[in-house]
Amino acid sequence: PNRPTIQRDVVVIGAGPAGLMAAYTLKKAGKSVAVLEARSRVGGRTWNGKVQDEAGNEHFIEIGGQWISPDQTRLIDLVDELELTTFARYRDGQNVYVSPDGTRHTYTGDQLPVSETTAAEIDKLIDLLNAKVTEMDVAQPWAMPGAEQLDAISFRDWLKQHSDDQEAIDNVSIYIASGMLTKPAHTFSALQAILMAASAGSFTNLVDEDFILDKRVVGGMQSVSQKMAKYLGEDVYLSSPVRQLDWATVDPDTADALNHVAADVRNGVPDDGAPGDVTAYSDTVIVHATNAVLAVPPNLYHRIQYVPPLPREHMVAHQHISMGLVIKVHAVYETPFWRDKGLSGTGFGGGRMVQEVYDNTNYGPNLVDDATAENPHGTLVSFVSDVHAETLWAMPAEERKQRILEELAVYLGDEALHPIAFFLSDMAAEEWTRGAYATSYDLGGLSRWGHLQNRPTGSIYYACSDIAAEGYQHVDGAIRQGELVAQRILERLS
Ligand code: FDA
Repeated sequence: PNRPTIQRDVVVIGAGPAGLMAAYTLKKAGKSVAVLEARSRVGGRTWNGKVQDEAGNEHFIEIGGQWISPDQTRLIDLVDELELTTFARYRDGQNVYVSPDGTRHTYTGDQLPVSETTAAEIDKLIDLLNAKVTEMDVAQPWAMPGAEQLDAISFRDWLKQHSDDQEAIDNVSIYIASGMLTKPAHTFSALQAILMAASAGSFTNLVDEDFILDKRVVGGMQSVSQKMAKYLGEDVYLSSPVRQLDWATVDPDTADALNHVAADVRNGVPDDGAPGDVTAYSDTVIVHATNAVLAVPPNLYHRIQYVPPLPREHMVAHQHISMGLVIKVHAVYETPFWRDKGLSGTGFGGGRMVQEVYDNTNYGPNLVDDATAENPHGTLVSFVSDVHAETLWAMPAEERKQRILEELAVYLGDEALHPIAFFLSDMAAEEWTRGAYATSYDLGGLSRWGHLQNRPTGSIYYACSDIAAEGYQHVDGAIRQGELVAQRILERLS
């Protein structure tokens, strides 16, 4: 096809929060950039949407990432810098806990209403995890004491080693398994679980929904990306998937030398990342640059053809990284009926199809950025993770909806059976994401290959929430990674 060829200092692949933050930082520092985005919109896994009710009225929803927690300080500062504001999740009233036998309990505070022995077991497991977190440098989880052993055991088996209380195990495991990595707890390691907790400061923070699901951006989290894209203007190329990236001269000696990257890392040889000569071929434009920032989730690295191919150990490592799977469910109601009953809308039930539910009512009427009028409607958000998501997707649409609504009714009452609008986020069916929320290594992968993930390959730098330290798998981590990579490139270019 007839594509223009342009020259820039840096080409950024992916206009999610990480890629846009890299480009935004580079451009502010006076460098020229081009951001190539596969989709026809920016924001990646953050995405403002609308769902219609039967009367044809539209209700604002966030299809992707939305919450900010107090430790996510880089994102909080950026939201401020972009002149966006936040609002707190509604949390007044009683929470609901559904125990394994299906009994419904209401409670306040952060202690689940379980038996004294189970409560003690939960506390013990949380203390154990918190202690492990203090031993981890979140930027180098693979270097913590006993990393290999912790990476060789599944999170589920590790919990079982320390407790035989099934209810305690189920409840501790949901915060990381279905709640965060969105994979069953037998498929990822204890090390991966400790990283998730460490990236949020402590396991206690993860368990505290008032901390982890604290605030939302007025106008939706996608606004963060949209604002940065606005600053970048014509430097963002939409509908421009990158198909090929030339990043080094191919000659037999170089190709062989490239395969020593992994050995270099182990031997302490400093990062490469030096300015070079890269060419990114997208569907609409070809960009020559001195550096590339690959700001796509690691499960999509292989969608690009690299010339020459990436070093051997990268090609192997990338096959051991995969997306989790979760369905984010929105149900909109005439009114937030649970509030009238003194309920917060928050509910937990380890092992159930819907293991968590929250009040996700918008700030103003319909659109979250209109705070001037009363919003009469109430919105619930809930999540169906991993194997439960597979079971649901296998059902006919009506049955699927009914199953979820029945679950919501267990938590909040029969009014939950009658939403005026209903929406399931299907990020697994999105070609440029392929799951939710984020990617993680399979058992043993983090200690084996983690050290490669942030190391530049020639002049290619990597940026994504999924390879972040603080804010790992979250928008904050994406922002931190984008900024860090831009700063490293600026140091090398100056
Ligand atoms: P992201 O995936 O967002 O962006 C990558 C971009 O690269 C995409 O735009 C993609 O189209 C593009 N791309 C891929 N391949 C390409 C190619 N070959 N060429 C060009 N472009 C290409 N986080 C949080 O902080 N709070 C929350 O509440 C939630 N909740 C949540 C819910 C759901 C349903 C999801 C799916 C995710 C979340 N998250 C979240 C996670 C959060 O959304 C995620 O961590 C960030 O969006 C990651 O940003 P990145 O820029 O790293 O990747």
